[in-house]
Order: sequence, then C-alpha cells, then structure tokens
Amino acid sequence: MLSFIGGTGPEGLGLAFRFLLAGEDVIIGSRSAERAAAAADKLKEMLASSPSGDATPSGTAQGMENEQAVKAGDDIIITVPFGGQADILALLRDAIGDKLVVDTVVPVKFAKGKISAIPVEEGSAAEQAQRVLPEATVISAFQNLSAETLMDPHEAVDCSVIVCGNDLEAKKKVMGLAEKIEGIRAIDGGGLANSRYVEDLTTLLLNINRIYKAHSSIQITGL
Ligand SMILES: NC(=O)c1ccc[n+]([C@@H]2O[C@H](COP(=O)([O-])OP(=O)(O)OC[C@H]3O[C@@H](n4cnc5c(N)ncnc54)[C@H](OP(=O)(O)O)[C@@H]3O)[C@@H](O)[C@H]2O)c1
Repeated sequence: MLSFIGGTGPEGLGLAFRFLLAGEDVIIGSRSAERAAAAADKLKEMLASSPSGDATPSGTAQGMENEQAVKAGDDIIITVPFGGQADILALLRDAIGDKLVVDTVVPVKFAKGKISAIPVEEGSAAEQAQRVLPEATVISAFQNLSAETLMDPHEAVDCSVIVCGNDLEAKKKVMGLAEKIEGIRAIDGGGLANSRYVEDLTTLLLNINRIYKAHSSIQITGL
C-alpha cells in the first residue's frame, strides 16, 4: 500500500494514477479528509475512462487525512510543495516512524516571470526530509516526470527516473516500484546527496517546457 502526503495535487494524483494502472493500492493523503476523498473519487473516474483501465486489474484508491494515510501505508510518497515539506513532515514524524519515504519534491520558485531553484540548507529537498525524519529511510525519485504527462491517460510515459538514496536495499525497492509504471526506466543515481542535481534538473526542464510549450523529461543513455 502506497500512501501519498499531499496526494491531492497533480504530481500525487498523476503518480497514484500510474501506480493504480500497475495494480498497486494507493491512499491519497491530504490535510483535509474531504479533499482526500474527492481525490480518490477522481482517480476512480480517471481509471474508468482510461484506455487501458479495463485491460488489466487495477489497484484500489482511498482518501484519508495525511496522518491516517501514513499510518495505513507500507511506503510513503511525499508530493507537497517544498515550502510546506519540513513543517508537514515534522507533524507526521511519529506516524511515519521508520518507514520508507520516497521524496519527489523539487525546491523551485516561480517569481517575477522566472523559474529558479531555491537553495536548500541541507543540500536538497530529500536531505531536508531525511533531517526531519531521522528514523525513516528517505529515497528521492520521480522529480523529472511531468505531472501533466502522468495524469493524461492518453499520453505514454517514456523517461528515466533517477533514484538516489543511502540505503541500497530501499533504493532497489523504489527502483522496482518505479519500473512498475509502464515506460519508466529506473537509474541508480547514487547517494541521497546526489538528489540536489536531479532536483535542479527539474528547474531546467520547467524552463525548457516554457520555451517549447511542452512537457519535457529525460532519458539517460549509454548504460
Ligand atoms: N507538478 C509537476 O509536474 C511535478 C513534477 C515533478 C515533481 N513535482 C514536485 O511534486 C510536489 C507536488 O507537486 P504538485 O504540483 O502536485 O504540488 P501542489 O499541487 O502545489 O501541492 C500538492 C498538494 O500538497 C498539499 N499542500 C500544499 N501546500 C502545503 C503545505 N504548506 N503543507 C502541507 N501540504 C501542502 C496540498 O494538498 P492538501 O491541501 O489536500 O493537503 C496540495 O494539493 C512538489 O514538490 C513538486 O516540486 C511536481
């Protein structure tokens, strides 16, 4: 069971949709039980109208407040904006305990017409999450995947997902999870300290998207 903290936004919904298609059960977490329930209903509608929705048995979707969601989930995925990450994780620290936490967060700001990276004291959003959750195993992944692509049932996912973390077993687990999504190739990006490069790459991709009016992503070649 995968639980999303802040799963009501496009990134959480998009990843949850693709995991549902892959047969995984998901819980959408939110600060509001109503928004969580509405998001789970939306996922069920997306699944029903998806071209591949009937072809394979899909997982189940439920909505809960964040605290219940992280308690009920086996593994946790964080999909909140960077500005809210440290506070919400501090609130949920006891409920998360020593679980595996996948961080998708990108420290990016949109100001005065510019898209730029936010400097992070700990080095990266993922390292900030690990600082706030010392008992948990934080692995970073999925930052270079566009939520618009993930949420569009008619669009194929075709990209590399770079996975960074200090616990090899947990990293391999997340790589396996990522590859359950059709079209994803998981790449071992090394330790959690390398997450800063992956996160900042998203800021570049967002600038490219603005220029090309597209949803760009990355492919690692030569491996
Ligand atoms: N969008 C993309 O294409 C994309 C791609 C790669 C990575 N990411 C990363 O994924 C994360 C989520 O992106 P998104 O576009 O889905 O973000 P979003 O829509 O701005 O936020 C996602 C959810 O987070 C919760 N939230 C918002 N502010 C919060 C706060 N201060 N404290 C706690 N929860 C808060 C909200 O849920 P409730 O109000 O229901 O609690 C919201 O629906 C971001 O860190 C982003 O950098 C996004």
